Amino acid sequence: MANLAVFGMGYVGSITAACFASKGHHVIGVDVNPDKIELLRRGEPTVAEPGLRELVSSSVRKGKLCVTQSVDDAVSRSDISFVTVGTPPRRNGDVELDALRSVLSEIGHSLKKNRRFHTIVVRSTVLPGTTASVALPLLVESSGLHPGKDFAIYFNPEFLREGSSVRDFHEPPYVIIGGNGFGQNNPLRSLWASMDINAPIFELKFEEAEMLKYASNAFHAAKVVFANEVGAICKDLSVDGQRVMEIFVKDTQLNTSPRYLMPGFSFGGSCLPKDVSALTYLAKSLDVSTPLLNSLMVSNDVHLMRAARMVLETGKRKVCLVGLGFKEGTDDVRNSPAVLLAEHLIGKGLEITIFDRIVQPEYLVGRNKQFLDMTLPHLLSHLRPNLANAIAEAEVIVVCAGDPEIEKLLIGRHEKKVIDLVGLRQIKHSGNGYAGIAW
Ligand SMILES: NC(=O)c1ccc[n+]([C@@H]2O[C@H](COP(=O)([O-])OP(=O)(O)OC[C@H]3O[C@@H](n4cnc5c(N)ncnc54)[C@H](O)[C@@H]3O)[C@@H](O)[C@H]2O)c1
Repeated sequence: MANLAVFGMGYVGSITAACFASKGHHVIGVDVNPDKIELLRRGEPTVAEPGLRELVSSSVRKGKLCVTQSVDDAVSRSDISFVTVGTPPRRNGDVELDALRSVLSEIGHSLKKNRRFHTIVVRSTVLPGTTASVALPLLVESSGLHPGKDFAIYFNPEFLREGSSVRDFHEPPYVIIGGNGFGQNNPLRSLWASMDINAPIFELKFEEAEMLKYASNAFHAAKVVFANEVGAICKDLSVDGQRVMEIFVKDTQLNTSPRYLMPGFSFGGSCLPKDVSALTYLAKSLDVSTPLLNSLMVSNDVHLMRAARMVLETGKRKVCLVGLGFKEGTDDVRNSPAVLLAEHLIGKGLEITIFDRIVQPEYLVGRNKQFLDMTLPHLLSHLRPNLANAIAEAEVIVVCAGDPEIEKLLIGRHEKKVIDLVGLRQIKHSGNGYAGIAW
């Protein structure tokens, strides 16, 4: 069984301490608030959470959970220290790190006296870069010790929800461990493996793990706002919004699924822009305020301009766009972001060539052809029939849609600038000249 210390016995700290202790680990809780320490000493929880009272009282009774206000005491009696202090918002929205800095610096001073390998785990929610650029240097400075040799530091975010936190701790979707390199003996991984939790453990870079926590919470916030805006429109139409969303989430192929959830290029096509515009028009005509829905087209256009800026900033003039359809595998070019990008770049005076395996000018008919005639009347002169030749002629290759040959043709072509809008796996780390739009 492991010897653990938990710094900050609020929501996350209490749950972390009590749940590890309930599995037989020896846990020592630390807090600056003497009232919390006194409560815990008596076997009472510091926060009201279903199931926590029983866990705390039985763990204290069995001697698995104890408390102290002495950092030296906690560090000397443990091998792993979890830091679960608050990281509240500042007035400008930034994260207040005073409590985190204070506790890390105290742990560092204790490590200096301790002289035993120790693992520090940041569990508080912190912005990407904080563990590597704030926590780690602070520990080095306050302890005078060497990371890797004398101590290890990880970021291990908590995904619990207040109200069901004990259950969430034991049934997480996954365990995330952020670090800057993982050896064979990752004590945190071993600790989680010992917890009999039926969830995968993912080891990520510090910044990836830190960002994952923010992405999760921002997504939850977006879902709440989205459902509320849909509900508000429904209410004005006397449509049952709860029924609509109840059925909405049953589509696990598109609605609640990995689809549409990967960074890439802007959306386009004949449906999404049209239907988002119709829905926001409807909301406006009903006088229902829907700021999130209204922002979708704005954000989509901003992303398109991000791609255009990346091309323009190369300073090169000969650009080949690969993929013209609004998404991979279609010849539908209506409202295709690639068409809009081409139009913008031609407007900036760049020499544009286009290759698309499926979009063949002689087969384009109906509204598809009409759209091209309107937006890129001289498109035919830009189309190239052969991808290898098109790449050879260009200085910059902009990959707007996947193509079966593209990666093979681009590997090793370091003299070419490649702007990837789709996420080509093989050439992602190919070095000079490669840039992804959102990775
Ligand atoms: N509450 C949640 O549902 C939740 C869920 C996931 C992540 N988080 C994150 O976890 C972190 C902690 O959140 P919380 O809700 O548990 O906060 P909290 O305010 O309930 O608890 C923080 C505790 O830290 C103590 N503390 C402050 N400075 C200290 C120091 N120097 N040494 C020891 N203890 C100290 C405080 O007295 C307090 O008891 C935050 O970063 C939060 O964003 C919270």
